[in-house]
Amino acid sequence: MSIALGVDPFDFVVFGGTGDLAIRKLMPAMLFSECDERLPQESGIIALGRKEQSLKDYSAAVKEGCQLHMADDPFDEKHWQAFENRLEYLQLDIEKEVDFNRLKERLEQYPERIRVFYLATHSSLFGKICEQLDKAGLIVDQARVVLEKPLGMDLKTASETDAAVSRHFDESQIFRIDHYLGKETVQNLMVLRFGNSLFEPVWHHGMIDHVQITVAETIGVKGRGGYYDNSGALRDMVQNHLLQLLCLVAMEPPAQFDQDAVRDEKLKILKSLKPLSGENVREHTVRGQYEAGAIEGQATGSYLEDCKLQNSMTETFVAIKAEIENWRWTGVPFYLRTGKRMGRKFSEIVIQFKPVPHQIFPNVGQPLQANRLVIRLQPDEGIKLMMTSKVPGPGGLRLQQTPLNLSYSDVFRNRAPEAYERLILDSVRGNSTLFMRGDELQAAWKWIDPILTGWQSRDDKPAAYPAGTMGPSSSTAMIARDNRSWFDEEED
Ligand code: BG6
Repeated sequence: MSIALGVDPFDFVVFGGTGDLAIRKLMPAMLFSECDERLPQESGIIALGRKEQSLKDYSAAVKEGCQLHMADDPFDEKHWQAFENRLEYLQLDIEKEVDFNRLKERLEQYPERIRVFYLATHSSLFGKICEQLDKAGLIVDQARVVLEKPLGMDLKTASETDAAVSRHFDESQIFRIDHYLGKETVQNLMVLRFGNSLFEPVWHHGMIDHVQITVAETIGVKGRGGYYDNSGALRDMVQNHLLQLLCLVAMEPPAQFDQDAVRDEKLKILKSLKPLSGENVREHTVRGQYEAGAIEGQATGSYLEDCKLQNSMTETFVAIKAEIENWRWTGVPFYLRTGKRMGRKFSEIVIQFKPVPHQIFPNVGQPLQANRLVIRLQPDEGIKLMMTSKVPGPGGLRLQQTPLNLSYSDVFRNRAPEAYERLILDSVRGNSTLFMRGDELQAAWKWIDPILTGWQSRDDKPAAYPAGTMGPSSSTAMIARDNRSWFDEEED
């Protein structure tokens, strides 16, 4: 099989190599790249962890993880062998210089290789790790550092962490990951907007009534409670994934598809978000927490049960009415919504157009429904344009909304790569177009911070919603105040 877009030989060094992310996402992504023969033969994967264990045991854990998380694909033993041969495990305590010196000995066996340091640990450790890498002389020109989200807990801690990393790495070497940007359908959002002449002329407040962005999950937080209860949905999903989606929908066309042009445009959107504070937080945001319920007939426990807590104010659901204060988007609300343990798993962007300015068809019974463009990010990736059509037959004019449907799986039969596959190899290439720049990160936190403060200053608890529903009733009420509704509540 030919190599699609090659990468130079590299060593991929994972801090947090035994953690959930490494086993569930990073290693399977690397194995997929192995199967597609995208990894140069002279490349290594070095997992670092505090635990003492043999490579054999570590490999067995990685294999089990890959088999579990690549479940839809038949497991490929031949490529697994090649992958296993690259795998190394080093015990490392980030406090110990001697451990970094052992890492150095290993990396200096191949000084010409690109070095990617992937920090899949809590962000409070990033500064220390970078300092130790620097002390050990490991930050050479061809080194990069990949920072896993969430980067910080608020603007202050994010800025401190970012500054601590920037003391050791140049901005061109820093890759702040948001895996949503690596999803095929998210990249396609830019292609849809800027690779077709059809949409741009109607992409503004004159034609668009509002936008909805939903990332609904059915999973809960069992097993991640320690992390999640300190984070919550706003930090875990909105500050990064949902705001990045909003930027891609709302940004101006960049002059080129390159790292600075794209990120400059996204930054402008983040800076144009209308600040939410004080009373606005109450009116324009909803936070919820799931209670026991049932999903697809299966009984599920509450958030508190999942996290083994008596009490918690942490939100597992957020809905926000966001507004962008610029010429293109004035008066167009962007409704954002995400939650755990919701009724269905789907991520979708809905562009609701305005109705026709004048209705010419008599006696059709009801007002014409306006066009709607639905961009389905997952699952069943595709694009659907809802249009008004005539129902065939005599006896009067009857109109109905009908979908014009593009399903990616019908058109593109190849396997859609996992987000991490693309992003890891982009970091090796040194291409940061699909990563967040430091100023973007700060701008996102700047908008999120007052929402957190607004919530903290009020004593009210997150609104309860039963698992298996689409969130608390206050979310429905928030959008209903604008005489609109979430689309899953409507009959299509
Ligand atoms: C992660 C969040 O960034 O994204 C998780 O930390 C969430 O809480 C996940 O479940 C969702 O990603 P995906 O790719 O499954 O939509």
